Amino acid sequence: MRPLGEEQTTATSPVGEETTATSPVGEETTAIRPVGEETTAIRPVGDQTTAITRSLSFGSEAAAYERGRPSYPPEAIDWLLPRGARAVLDLGAGTGKLTTRLVERGLSVVAVDPIPEMLEVLRHSLPDTPALLGTAEEIPLPDASVDVVLVAQAWHWFDPMRAVPEVARVLRPGGRLGLVWNTRDERMGWVRDLGRIIGAEHDPLSREVTLPESFADLQREQVEWTSYLTPQALIDLVASRSYCITSPTEVRTRTLDEVRELLATHPALANSTGLALPYVTVCIRATLAS
Ligand SMILES: C[S@@+](CC[C@H](N)C(=O)[O-])C[C@H]1O[C@@H](n2cnc3c(N)ncnc32)[C@H](O)[C@@H]1O
Repeated sequence: MRPLGEEQTTATSPVGEETTATSPVGEETTAIRPVGEETTAIRPVGDQTTAITRSLSFGSEAAAYERGRPSYPPEAIDWLLPRGARAVLDLGAGTGKLTTRLVERGLSVVAVDPIPEMLEVLRHSLPDTPALLGTAEEIPLPDASVDVVLVAQAWHWFDPMRAVPEVARVLRPGGRLGLVWNTRDERMGWVRDLGRIIGAEHDPLSREVTLPESFADLQREQVEWTSYLTPQALIDLVASRSYCITSPTEVRTRTLDEVRELLATHPALANSTGLALPYVTVCIRATLAS
């Protein structure tokens, strides 16, 4: 086992928008767990049930997800893809935010996701792309069938004990595993205030993924960029977060009202028809041994 990055803490950190320990609704997930190390992999059953419920909650807000969530910067995708790659699996593809960027590059892409409503949106915009119902723990592809497995904003929902061997099975020898997360850059005032309402992002530097020895050259990169969106798209972004979807109606309503209030009153936002939301995109890649 090789943890990534000497500077990182040993704590398994929640990731991105779905895993903020300071969330107002008390979300706390440690879904990135060391592979083959039993110590932190064991969670109380109730906790696991909550995590699974949340991981499969996106379907009811698939349209809001597609409207509100950001895409991924080209620099991040360049860094994740190995030269000469052709066949790519987008695992946990959702509505196809990353899939679209891959198809645009002329790659042969297969999308896999367990939520039919998410795949329905994907199929609508990418009718020629195979979109299969499935999970990271049981990938519906043959052995050694893809050059690359990419996972955008979803690795933290997987059970790594089962997903890592499955990824290794479907990858060709020498194939690439690439993980990517958009994290809101909360150094800017209003984005920090947004985090107080919907749950602060974790420091991107605290990201840690551990893979077995069969995956070599574990590397990490960050890309800073800005997503431009409308105020309504920000509401959609918040509404499509798993904690919002799975919260009691009053919590969900209060959260969305507070975001509307922020949009109406924050000096940097009031009367704006367009918002600039800065992100730090965290990328991690590793290569399966030949
Ligand atoms: C936050 S969304 C990310 C979707 C998409 N990759 C993107 O970047 O917009 C997380 C996705 O992970 C999927 N997911 C959850 N558990 C999964 C699992 N065990 N295996 C594969 N996908 C899973 C969900 O269905 C959802 O579409």
